[in-house]
Amino acid sequence: KYEGLAMTPSMGWNSWNTFETKIDEQLVKQTADIMVSSGMVAAGYNYIVLDDGWMTRERDGDGNLVPDPEKFPNGMKALVDYVHGKGLKFGLYNCAGTKTCAGYPGTRGYEYQDARLYASFGIDFLKFDWCNTEGINAKEAFTTMSNALKVAGRPILFNICEWGDNQPWNWASPIGNSWRISGDIYPCFDCEYKHPENWSSWGFMKIIEMRKDIRQFSGPDHWNDFDMLEVGNGMTYAEDKSHFTMWALMASPLITGNDLRVMTKETLGILTNKDIISVNQDKLGIQGFKYATEGSIEIWVKPLTDGSWAVTFLNRNEKTQSLNFDWKAHTITDPINKLTADFKGDVYMIKDLWGGKTGGTTQKNLIAQIPGHDTVTLRLTPKSKGK
Ligand code: DGJ
Repeated sequence: KYEGLAMTPSMGWNSWNTFETKIDEQLVKQTADIMVSSGMVAAGYNYIVLDDGWMTRERDGDGNLVPDPEKFPNGMKALVDYVHGKGLKFGLYNCAGTKTCAGYPGTRGYEYQDARLYASFGIDFLKFDWCNTEGINAKEAFTTMSNALKVAGRPILFNICEWGDNQPWNWASPIGNSWRISGDIYPCFDCEYKHPENWSSWGFMKIIEMRKDIRQFSGPDHWNDFDMLEVGNGMTYAEDKSHFTMWALMASPLITGNDLRVMTKETLGILTNKDIISVNQDKLGIQGFKYATEGSIEIWVKPLTDGSWAVTFLNRNEKTQSLNFDWKAHTITDPINKLTADFKGDVYMIKDLWGGKTGGTTQKNLIAQIPGHDTVTLRLTPKSKGK
């Protein structure tokens, strides 16, 4: 792969969750404009990614992919130039199979030709999917595309979209900057949504539960990708906050999937919460983990640089829960990275990352009412080490 393109988890926008194949030039331009004017770029977002549906149904006479001229009347290069002109990066999608999931031409057998075309468009990111791959070896197919991008003459981030069946975390690190770990997300807290065609999409907590044992495979430039965000796509405000918080703690790429043109102030506020984003973008690049469960409250933690920890108390229940947490009775250890927060011996200063009551230290119990499906999310910074 092209190294170093995702030293922290990628941040951007992808068309699929809201628009599926109903994408066009105007949507991309408006999205790019709003990404700048809304403050999202200042908060760290920089990729605009077109998912499935940007091509015509057939390759041209030379075997090249063709951007759909009705959706993209000025071609792809002009649109990429427009997005670059805004200071943003541009991503496209294709698939390792013979066709994409939506039935457009897949890349199987055209890897090097497609990579050269992408480079000629000037793209910076490729999402590479896994439909219509009967008889194809996943590791080989993704390796071929990775190699093709590497020699195409342009740094192109490679986002592998295999859904976990072939365990990409075991082999994708040298070839991809990130890889999906599950089937598609669905805008709900922890439901399973069964499609009529007999496959399922998953609420955000389901994805997290499904893959809780693979955190050691994720890190700078080789991330577990928990899928595009559903913030602003129909969940409650509390659920949207929890979703964003958990993606930050999991060090997942933060790729928004909502219609930026109609997003509410609340949605924008969530997506641009700098404190939560800095948990996600922390340089150590450690994926967080569940420390404990107390009743229906789950305690998830993520070690950060400078000895800090992000801690979130997530209410899995729909009803408000009371929390009374005695820090001094706890020592949190990350068994993989050998990092410890010992609240018996050390005092940590507390910052509330969703703007509730801030201040205080771990010397006092944390007392809170957590509404249904909401979190209390904190950043703990060591005050004094040892006694
Ligand atoms: C399946 C992927 O998991 C989705 O994110 C999206 O890319 C669709 N395919 C597009 O067809």
